[in-house]
Amino acid sequence: ALIGKGEHRHFMAKEIFEQPQVIGDTLNAMYNPARGSITLPDLPFDMADVPKVTIVACGTSYYAGLVGKYWIERTARVPVEIDVASEFRYRRPVLQDGGVALFISQSGETADTLAALRHCKAEGQRIVSVVNSPESSMARESDVVLQTNAGPEIGVASTKAFTTQLTVLACFAIALGRAKDTLTPAREKALAAALAEVPGRAAEVLAHDEAIRDIAQFVAEARDVLYLGRGTSYAIALEGALKLKEISYIHAEGYAAGEMKHGPIALIDESVPVIVIAPHDEDDLFEKTASNVQETVARGGQVIFFSDAKGVLRMQDTALHAIAMPEVDPFVAPILYAIPVQLLAYHTAVLKGTDVDQPRNLAKSVTVE
Ligand code: G6P
Repeated sequence: ALIGKGEHRHFMAKEIFEQPQVIGDTLNAMYNPARGSITLPDLPFDMADVPKVTIVACGTSYYAGLVGKYWIERTARVPVEIDVASEFRYRRPVLQDGGVALFISQSGETADTLAALRHCKAEGQRIVSVVNSPESSMARESDVVLQTNAGPEIGVASTKAFTTQLTVLACFAIALGRAKDTLTPAREKALAAALAEVPGRAAEVLAHDEAIRDIAQFVAEARDVLYLGRGTSYAIALEGALKLKEISYIHAEGYAAGEMKHGPIALIDESVPVIVIAPHDEDDLFEKTASNVQETVARGGQVIFFSDAKGVLRMQDTALHAIAMPEVDPFVAPILYAIPVQLLAYHTAVLKGTDVDQPRNLAKSVTVE
């Protein structure tokens, strides 16, 4: 069937706005509302026995995997190794017997990721893939397929594939935590309920579209942009920077906020927008990120701050712009905070007049090495 842009100017905008729907579609396959629990498809192995998880992917899918690492280690206390496929496949990684190798790919055809999958399969790992194309090579060659129900993604810069990958990985972390007995039934229920809220909350985030379009006018003037975050927000900072450079061609870097002192702080002046991802969390990382914001502002940096209402209240006199995100369980925050950085990249690219859906030099699916 021919896929149209609907009321949107670009596929990317349409796909960003589809997220409440497709996150819900993805979750529906794994969430049991009556029991308030998460169930994965039948696995040909016992999750309780999994000693280690190795995550491999490229591009945006890799950043989804990075969030997955934080989630799995926190929730299931299983060690997670993660790498980009082009490094992993050649570096003779040490795999553990009985380990799960988890591959994340929208297309299911990315050459490096597929080669890494075949390597792990030959080494006897249990192959789990998170893919959006059920007919893909990766889906065919995996022991278990955890499907993202994002529907076709046309824009080269990935958006809805990313948030649905996160949705699947959140469910995987919860299911592993249950199998490992690291998650109490009450906490599992709370996490499942938090996930079930995400589609509705995502729709609330999309209501900030106009405010973010205004912020994009400032970002579009910049030569360099820095994105900062800690914990799962670090992965969102990396993804935000990737989105911006892919489609607006503005140089952007994502950094762990705590590493700013070890380099990027040297770049900060009035011309550098600093995008800060800072939801409140369980470990008081908010306070640490808030002091990084103070250090940035003291050097003339112009901060664009994404946090919850409480965080925005704290920073409204310090940041150039602050956007109040919905109040949610910190576990699901990365799914929601992915959306404003997508919108910011999108509007910046539109202002720059680039080919948003087909940025120069990039391909939707990289099937050659
Ligand atoms: C290309 C695309 C990205 C995507 C990456 C991985 O670089 O432009 O949007 O994140 O490949 O693709 P995959 O299909 O494996 O998720």
